[in-house]
Amino acid sequence: EKGTYPHYMLKEIDEQPLVIRKIIQAYQNEKDELVVVDDIVKSMKEADRIYIVACGTSYHAGLVGKQFIENMAEIPVEVHVASEFSYNMPLLSAKPLFIFLSQSGETADSRAVLVRIKEMEHRALTITNVPGSTLSREADYTMLLHAGPEIAVASTKAYTAQIAVLAILANVTAKSRGMNLALDLVHELGIIANAMEVLCDTKEEFEKMASEFLPFTRNCFFIGRSLDYFVCLEGALKLKEISYIQAEGFAGGELKHGTIALIEDGTPVIALATQENVNWSIRGNVKEVAARGANTCIISMKGLETEEDRFLLPKVNQLLTPLISVIPLQLIAYYASLHRGCDVDKPRNLAKSVTVE
Ligand code: F6R
Repeated sequence: EKGTYPHYMLKEIDEQPLVIRKIIQAYQNEKDELVVVDDIVKSMKEADRIYIVACGTSYHAGLVGKQFIENMAEIPVEVHVASEFSYNMPLLSAKPLFIFLSQSGETADSRAVLVRIKEMEHRALTITNVPGSTLSREADYTMLLHAGPEIAVASTKAYTAQIAVLAILANVTAKSRGMNLALDLVHELGIIANAMEVLCDTKEEFEKMASEFLPFTRNCFFIGRSLDYFVCLEGALKLKEISYIQAEGFAGGELKHGTIALIEDGTPVIALATQENVNWSIRGNVKEVAARGANTCIISMKGLETEEDRFLLPKVNQLLTPLISVIPLQLIAYYASLHRGCDVDKPRNLAKSVTVE
């Protein structure tokens, strides 16, 4: 039930701190350590390459997951859009492990890949919000998101839940491989949950940004580098699906290779700057678009800010920033949709669970 909330989407955005805390609880043992079923960790360690397969928002979570698994556990990862993988399968490594990311566990495009790779006798782990769903039943292993039912068509809490569960999986694998890259994730995710709460309590800021940058625009760009780029892809998807504004996420460095031609006087460009190693280069990209008339808005993380920044995110671990930097983008999309009089929870032409290929 959405209770006092006007829309499920807003309720689900607000539930994110709670979901992170639930995930910590669900994956903690009696010694308060995060644990994953032994067989899953064993399969991770035996794999010479991991293939993450997903669609839409779940695919965007997968891009972040690749970074976690490669950085913490040092296992190479490829991320694939399920509908492409089915018809254009890449050459597989000798010992692949497949991870299917799916909120609903019912997405036909992802299932088609699962069926194919099971025929080839490869191992599969499904990470889903729905116990007993098709993708969960047909894979060898399941990890649950514990996000509670997601009703709004636009996925929000399932995205952050997927990222948190992937962080746990990567971290537990890293520890079990004896790598010192593992984080104290109970502590770090606790900080994340608190930071999420701060952002959910700052909604007016994001409502203002939506009214300032997006009321009459026909398009909007999100730019970032590294992990911020992946979050930009998700921010753009949120905005296009519920507000019908044409939105695109771009890697900052790619702008000059073509996209910058689209910048006109007043074109909104929202930039994320949460990554220290690319902080100056993304700011350079913001200057390039501003010089061509773009209406720019920088959302950065505390410690990396400059005077021009519009909003500062609370400081969290560099690798985990997608868990919080996505929240302003979810809220901006929500308010843009609301202000334009769109149907926030049930956007046109879309279904919550896509059970046809
Ligand atoms: C976007 C959205 C979709 C889903 C995609 C995959 O907000 O909800 O892009 O992420 O259809 O769905 P699942 O995760 O259920 O496989």
